[in-house]
Amino acid sequence: MARSTTLLAVESSCDESALALLQGRDDGVVVRGECIASQIDLHARFGGVVPEVAAREHLRTLPALLDRLLADVGCDLSSVGAVAVTAGPGLLGALLVGVSWARGVAAACGVPLIPVHHLEGHLLAAGLAGRLPLPSVTLLVSGGHTLLVRVDGIGRYRLLGQTLDDAAGECFDKCARMLGLGYPGGPAIAAAAAGGDGCRFALPRPMLRKPGLDFSFSGLKTAVSYLLRDRPALRDDPAAVADLAASIEQAIAEVLAGRALAACTGEGIDDLVVAGGVAANRRLRAMLGAGCAARGITLHLPEVRHCTDNAAMIGYAAWRRLQAGLPVPPRDDWDARARWPLCGGPAPHGGGRR
Ligand code: KG4
Ligand code: ZN
Repeated sequence: MARSTTLLAVESSCDESALALLQGRDDGVVVRGECIASQIDLHARFGGVVPEVAAREHLRTLPALLDRLLADVGCDLSSVGAVAVTAGPGLLGALLVGVSWARGVAAACGVPLIPVHHLEGHLLAAGLAGRLPLPSVTLLVSGGHTLLVRVDGIGRYRLLGQTLDDAAGECFDKCARMLGLGYPGGPAIAAAAAGGDGCRFALPRPMLRKPGLDFSFSGLKTAVSYLLRDRPALRDDPAAVADLAASIEQAIAEVLAGRALAACTGEGIDDLVVAGGVAANRRLRAMLGAGCAARGITLHLPEVRHCTDNAAMIGYAAWRRLQAGLPVPPRDDWDARARWPLCGGPAPHGGGRR
């Protein structure tokens, strides 16, 4: 691989079609352009992502996004030296559309196709803002995952804790739905919580007093559903909705921050990275900021647009893998996979198509 490579990155694992063009150099990566087409409005009326609709929309959107990206950056496909694509985990139909389309582009350009683990993209996204601290503890909080991972190097990840049931983002989404606040729930709860009293409703802090670093959010969701069942009039009182939204946000943020800081202490690591869509939450950011400052831990937060799903993080992860000398499988020897463990699982390739 040349010392400077133009990478086209593709992300389509859920409800965002995203492309990015990156210049990978030995001394770092420059994002030359990125664009994203969100399907949120399309899925909002169903209250969540509909897999078939997502796949069809990726298929419709990706070619036009590529035209827009190339026009924005002012180059054509002849300068692309490699294509990186999210190979999993995610919605299978959505992934298959992205992988097949990326494979076609890579074949047309005669360049390698690099499969990237979606969570590795989130894990390394902080590097897009500058230096990626190693070793670090990463709190990865998205709609589908809540993990604490020790990152010792590229491809060297150790799972420290994970949710035993719902992910934090899922909890935000389900609570927002119960409150009639719309989808996606995280930003909706955050907006409703502005000015609310986060101490008014005593919601559980699941697992916080238990040893270990695992999470559980289904009890919190159930507590909110019982509260609304027993006091349905709360939904019609804007001040109560604001207080309840703030209390939900407070409970989730306290659990996430408490566990993340405990993980840093336990591992003896003073760099904490937070990634994934929920990392955009202001209350969580503020709580982590204060907790890290009190303990001498440096907090690394990707830009908000690189916390939620995006293609720049996929290109960045691919570039770091290339730089680390990790192998790239032959272009046609692997396929998308809906399930793919981050730590200790097999690569999406090596044994032919699955
Ligand atoms: O990482 P992401 O964009 O997609 C997945 O890979 O899942 O995360 C989406 C999740 C959703 O559950 C959404 O409600 C949540 O991130 N989210 C937020 C905020 N922005 C997005 N949660 C809390 N506060 C936010 N500001
Ligand atoms: Zn994601």
